[in-house]
Amino acid sequence: MHLLIAGGRELSGTVAVEGAKNAVLPACAASLLTDEPVIVHRVPPLRDVRTIIAVIRELGKEVEYSDGTVTIRHGRPLQPNPSREYVEQMRASFLVLGPLLARLGRAEVPLPGGCTIGPRPVDYHLQGLRALGAAVREEGDGTIVLTAEKLRGTRFRLPYPSVGATEQLLMAAALADGDTTIENASREPEVLDLVELLRGMGARIETSADGFNVEGVPALHGTEHTVIPDRLEAGTYLIAGAITRGRVTVADVRPEHLASLAQVLGEAGARVETSADAVTVEGGGRLRPVAVRTAPYPGFPTDLQPPLVSLLSLAEGESTVQDTVFPTRFGYVDELIRMGARIAVAGGTARITGVKGLHGADLVAPDIRAGAALVLAGLAARGESRIAGLDQLDRGYADLEGKLTRLGAKIERRDVQ
Ligand code: EPZ
Repeated sequence: MHLLIAGGRELSGTVAVEGAKNAVLPACAASLLTDEPVIVHRVPPLRDVRTIIAVIRELGKEVEYSDGTVTIRHGRPLQPNPSREYVEQMRASFLVLGPLLARLGRAEVPLPGGCTIGPRPVDYHLQGLRALGAAVREEGDGTIVLTAEKLRGTRFRLPYPSVGATEQLLMAAALADGDTTIENASREPEVLDLVELLRGMGARIETSADGFNVEGVPALHGTEHTVIPDRLEAGTYLIAGAITRGRVTVADVRPEHLASLAQVLGEAGARVETSADAVTVEGGGRLRPVAVRTAPYPGFPTDLQPPLVSLLSLAEGESTVQDTVFPTRFGYVDELIRMGARIAVAGGTARITGVKGLHGADLVAPDIRAGAALVLAGLAARGESRIAGLDQLDRGYADLEGKLTRLGAKIERRDVQ
């Protein structure tokens, strides 16, 4: 399967944004912390959602997913070991580790692989769980076995504000014996959404100056939760409006989650309007060059770095985009160069010399956000682009061609002939 895009058309209209993939995945892992029902609303129909549902089912839960709602109920007794295939398919499956350890005193999880955005170690996760009292053993086949009679509250400073490690430790500490302080934690909106969900389950979590204080409780109960809107999907569509010089509105969003993108687009000369729950971007003329560094929230999100580089490929002058989170997350740049972009990558920074136009090409999406970058470039390019690697795109963007078509794009999904 690939996407066929006829570029050069202005996009305009309003996009209804889905719930955040990166909030749904930890929410499903958190359901393992109780035998009572956990109901999650605004769940997008994504491949990664189907994967985490398969993992939770395999571990023993009954899971229904319909009309955007996932209902997770107790089924069989929890098992400690998700299949290797799921963890290799999706790194976020590793988040079941903390909950299984907290509930069963045991978890056996394969080490997640790296991927095209760089090595994806989990050392911070393991260091934190050790600090909570877990014994960690690595088996020969790359499986990690963690055991703990009872997790005990601790004080742990993360070496880096890792999103996944923060989520892992929040879930494990929620059922630990005593109090846990997590310092230098991630404050991404998706992490704060998980905190809201855990509080709804009875967890005792307070935010501190640079992290969280968790007071362990003996048990957690069920809850019902609606995840936050997906700021990464929303940002991708706003950049689509800018790159095609159209006018796109994303509705039912949390504008504060898009503030860093709105600022960059404004600096580049796009018109940005923000209301209580919507953001509109109007492209207009050729954009000005900008210098951007990605950083943990509220900094510019690394997940919008690839779409931004596509946009700046068509701006005037010299722009620079430095990815401080994933310095090697530029694998897609070669594909943009094949479309006529002028970009040099060195030391975690892309130096972009804007060109007047891009031309269509046959492209392959290496990962979710790089795939989005290539779609955006294809929408703006002269002529036709074919993009393969839809299994990556479908992990993070629901009904991508439907939403883009409704904005005026000429895009369709075709079987490879
Ligand atoms: C989450 O990944 C997101 N995924 C990613 O989105 C996102 O790019 C990333 O956070 C950064 O914002 C989900 O939430 C499911 P990290 P995560 O741990 O948790 C290093 C997408 O497209 N690190 O914050 O894996 C790591 O190598 C995905 O939706 C360690 O060294 O990211 C990276 O350089 C892509 N050791 C940095 O920290 C560890 O134990 C940030 O990683 C953990 C992380």
